[in-house]
Amino acid sequence: QTICLSDYKVPAYLVDQVDLRFELFEDGARVHSVLSVRRNPESSAGDEPLYLHGDSLVLESVALNGTPLAAGDFDDLGDALVVSSVPEAFELQVVTWIEPQNNTRLEGLYKSSGMFCTQCEAEGFRCITFYPDRPDVMARFRTRIEADRDAYPVLLSNGNPVAKGDLEGGRHYVTWEDPFPKPAYLFALVAGDLVEKKDTFTTCSGRSIDLRMYVEPRNAQKCDFALDALKRSMRWDEDVYGREYDLDIFMIVAVDDFNMGAMENKGLNIFNSSCVLASQETATDAAFQRIEAIVAHEYFHNWSGNRVTCRDWFQLSLKEGFTVFRDAQFSADMGSPTVKRIEDATLLRTAQFAEDAGPMAHPVRPASYMEISNFYTLTIYEKGAEVVRMIHNLLGESLFRQGSDLYFQRHDGQAVTTDDFVRAMEDASGRDLSQFRLWYEQAGTPALTVTDEFDEERCVYRLTVSQSVPDTPGQTGKKPQHIPFAVGLLGRDGQPLPLLFSAGSDDAPVDRVLELTEREHCFEFHGVSERPVPSLLRGFSAPVRVHYPWTREQLLFLMSHDPDGFNRWDAGQRLAVDVIQSLIVAPEAEVEPRLVDAYRSLLRNTGLDQALVAKMLQLPSEAYLIELSEQADVAAIHRAREAVLSHLATHLRDELLACYHRNSAQGDYQLTPESVARRSLRNTALGWLLHIGDQQGLVLAQEQLRSADNMTDRLGALRALVNSDFVEERTQALEGFYQAFREDPQVVELWFSVQAASVRAGQLPQITQLLEHEAFDWKNPNKVRSVIGAFASQNLAAFHNPDGSGYAFLATQVCRLDDSNPQIASRLVTPLTRWRKFAPEYRVLMKSALERVRDKDRLSGDVYEVVHKSLAD
Ligand code: ARG
Ligand code: ZN
Repeated sequence: QTICLSDYKVPAYLVDQVDLRFELFEDGARVHSVLSVRRNPESSAGDEPLYLHGDSLVLESVALNGTPLAAGDFDDLGDALVVSSVPEAFELQVVTWIEPQNNTRLEGLYKSSGMFCTQCEAEGFRCITFYPDRPDVMARFRTRIEADRDAYPVLLSNGNPVAKGDLEGGRHYVTWEDPFPKPAYLFALVAGDLVEKKDTFTTCSGRSIDLRMYVEPRNAQKCDFALDALKRSMRWDEDVYGREYDLDIFMIVAVDDFNMGAMENKGLNIFNSSCVLASQETATDAAFQRIEAIVAHEYFHNWSGNRVTCRDWFQLSLKEGFTVFRDAQFSADMGSPTVKRIEDATLLRTAQFAEDAGPMAHPVRPASYMEISNFYTLTIYEKGAEVVRMIHNLLGESLFRQGSDLYFQRHDGQAVTTDDFVRAMEDASGRDLSQFRLWYEQAGTPALTVTDEFDEERCVYRLTVSQSVPDTPGQTGKKPQHIPFAVGLLGRDGQPLPLLFSAGSDDAPVDRVLELTEREHCFEFHGVSERPVPSLLRGFSAPVRVHYPWTREQLLFLMSHDPDGFNRWDAGQRLAVDVIQSLIVAPEAEVEPRLVDAYRSLLRNTGLDQALVAKMLQLPSEAYLIELSEQADVAAIHRAREAVLSHLATHLRDELLACYHRNSAQGDYQLTPESVARRSLRNTALGWLLHIGDQQGLVLAQEQLRSADNMTDRLGALRALVNSDFVEERTQALEGFYQAFREDPQVVELWFSVQAASVRAGQLPQITQLLEHEAFDWKNPNKVRSVIGAFASQNLAAFHNPDGSGYAFLATQVCRLDDSNPQIASRLVTPLTRWRKFAPEYRVLMKSALERVRDKDRLSGDVYEVVHKSLAD
């Protein structure tokens, strides 16, 4: 069943107040709900029946204004409760019975290692009780939780605790009240035997906020970093957006079984353990950074998401795109802005571009969907954030801030649309963003083709840029978009040249954002005395592909001279892609010697920002190389990339060893950008040395594994060993590592994924063994992702085994998971849906694996949508 944006109608009934009482037991939970309902004055629906969503509920009783309803007065349709002929305003009392202990979908109320917790976004609240489960119905919630006192001493919900006490039979209760009206998707409940970590934050207006983190006792030592990140986020949102926290208490809970990363429930954020718990011994630098970003993201939602929420789920990017943009700004401020930009652009170009070119391509504001869970995508989140970033760049810092102030002020307490967001930006800035709105409506990645000419006599340099937006499923013949295109020009000696639009004017900038609005644009720069090298799309100023016939000469030049750090990195990537691609075509050809020289000077360059150097040393991933090809031949791509890697490592052995040692003396573990860069550099060097079977590298790796005082270095050494041909040593290392960390689920997940993502340690028979490992758990999404997900999306040469075994394996696991957790199954199937991207011999096998999934009995709606859309022609 397809749901369309064009069918949107305001709700026929509004809910002002929700009173909930949860009786939690081991064999189930009884939910008493009292709704204060009234007809919506804005609705033209007349005396339509009251329609309440429900899913997997056992209805025990229903009463209207205290009078039990007779069987003829309502319909329990299974997925809805419909009450005909209701008065203008009334109270509805509903009692339902649910079984959290058997809830393997992890939507609604469920149990995770002994504790009760909830996940209601997008449509999980209907698994708890009957309710108009749509974000434009906003109500005040009062929640009383009753449970056994010993097993569940901690009882939490949104807002402030207002009452508590003992009950008969060793039970107790706590009542919570949330003064802010909210959609049901922001409801949360937690009950468990948890330890509490406390802190406080004083807001800009001097209010003192109680900060609390609740975790299982074994994780008590892993909370400090998240609490500190929370305080940094709270301060930052005040400083940069003028947003002050609004309740007196803010809580974070960590749970092991969670479908996504985290959830911004009002005043009670719930996190996947792996996205919030950290210590030096167990978390990598990347994990620390991810945790800081996610803590900030969920906190920022309090304004961009909760105070101002979405009218309907087509507007999901309203809160997600904006909030990802905000958390990216925050991370840039906390660490290295260039590195953050490189990471975001890499994810976008590798995974979002692939999504936008695949069968599930959809606009940032989709026009239709079947299952909303399938639309928590890179397009909604990451491309949505890029769209907000472009508005930021077009308006500039100060007008953007005025726009966001206006947005929050105008829409506080409302459920609104992406269009309302853009309108606030327009109204505050006086800019016309009507063409810009196409970014929300048109799917597909715009492609820019750039050509240039130099008129030596007139000293005129001409850039011609044409844009086209590709067709996507259901959308053809697209209009040109409004694209901010940041450029600079470099002179022969590396000096930036002024960008003068007409002869005569002085002090021209050396950096400009050209605004593309036509299908083709021509820009003339005057007073250019020599043929420049163009630096295009600086800072990745728009989520587009750029085609320009760069020579290797030019790329090498930009790689060492471009003052824009992002483009410096990008030039290196383009050069490496070009070299690898020429080896795909001609496997016996020589590796470009100038690439070796370029990497040599990078390895020796201690003057340049070492965080940038660390990024520049990473070769483009196989996934990115696949994304760039028309008909990907995975084996050829893998072979070519490995050959370049071996060639570089062999010719740069001395420099790698020097780099390793130079970055080894570190003293105490620190999380500064400089020390993160040092660890990254030395682990990259180690990886390359082991890749070519270097004996000295082996000794260093084993020593590092033994003596490291942090997980980044320990895992770096393990990964290097796992990706080497030292079979015995890597087996030993894996065994030792597991024995040392078997009690820690987050580290065990790292241990799984390092193997599953490795072409050497993660061939299918080994993957099958991992699924049988004592630490593997089908019910835990993190474990599933760390083995099956890592295999199918990172271990590409093994997954795309030409015999089709990888595909068949994935199809089997997807079918298995579809019965217990459809959301996870639907995400896991993604790699198969990209079958059209591959060379014919792969394509056939991928397609038939997909057809096997399609033909499974009782396929979930989640997987149905993805599989059918990707098989449609
Ligand atoms: N709103 C959450 C976040 O981005 C994501 C929750 C999505 N959950 C889901 N089941 N689709 O922070
Ligand atoms: Zn979010």
